[in-house]
Amino acid sequence: MKTIAVLNQKGGVGKTTTTINLADVLAKQGKQVLVVDLDPQGNLSKVISGGEVRFDPNVMDLFAKDNKADVRAMIRSAYDSENFFYIPTDIRLSRVIEAGLTLSFREVRLTNHLNKLKDDFDYILLDCPPNLSLTTTNAIVAADLFLMPVNSGVFALDGLEDLLDALNEVSQDQSLNYYVFRNEVAAQNKVINGAIEEDLLQIAEGRILKTSIRRSEHIGQASFMSMPLSKYKKGSTAINDYKSLAKEIIGLFK
Ligand SMILES: Nc1ncnc2c1ncn2[C@@H]1O[C@H](COP(=O)(O)OP(=O)(O)O)[C@@H](O)[C@H]1O
Ligand SMILES: [Mg+2]
Repeated sequence: MKTIAVLNQKGGVGKTTTTINLADVLAKQGKQVLVVDLDPQGNLSKVISGGEVRFDPNVMDLFAKDNKADVRAMIRSAYDSENFFYIPTDIRLSRVIEAGLTLSFREVRLTNHLNKLKDDFDYILLDCPPNLSLTTTNAIVAADLFLMPVNSGVFALDGLEDLLDALNEVSQDQSLNYYVFRNEVAAQNKVINGAIEEDLLQIAEGRILKTSIRRSEHIGQASFMSMPLSKYKKGSTAINDYKSLAKEIIGLFK
């Protein structure tokens, strides 16, 4: 079982979209894949379920005071797949997080639950909220690899140094396995692309994936239609980006 946290405390950079499409590609390659929605906004859950906004049980139960939740009971099939699964969440998670300060073993809750699934999945992807709250710190403790999408706007790299500091603080792992990759790249924006790449080299010290995900209207439309890209538009060239991403990530574990 390899656990990958997709994180960045900025919203709208592509965490959820990447999580869904990367998981979809890995599952199509025959891997057993589970995605966990750790964002109380529940965007990932809404997309995969086709519009549902309330789920019982859900991730919030993993953070219940009595710590008796059954993680297996939360797993649902994504798109009726036999090897792509998800654990949903909904807005009620935010209240649970606020009450979380008094929880016992609060930072290792997720790790302990996911360890029960280690023989069932090849990859577990954690879709984090746009902040460094309790679910993000749980994801940092649980993950073997950290993937940080950055988008292509003027403020793309704001907060990245802070995020790396937070990773170092929480994980206590000397050989922190993190990689940044660019999302929503438009080839025609040569000046911005050059500037972002230059800054990234400094901030992320070379820990930048070769793969970037292009800006594609199909990607946005697919989420809007509650589908992974491969289902929404089979022939979309952007699928190749997610395939490259999957290949590069699999290579990182070798
Ligand atoms: N490569 C891309 N091309 C076009 N639109 C994208 C791309 N990646 C993400 N988006 C769109 O950007 C918005 C934010 O993406 P999302 O994955 O929800 O970000 P986050 O989870 O980081 O908040 C969504 O509407 C999504 O469809
Ligand atoms: Mg999201």
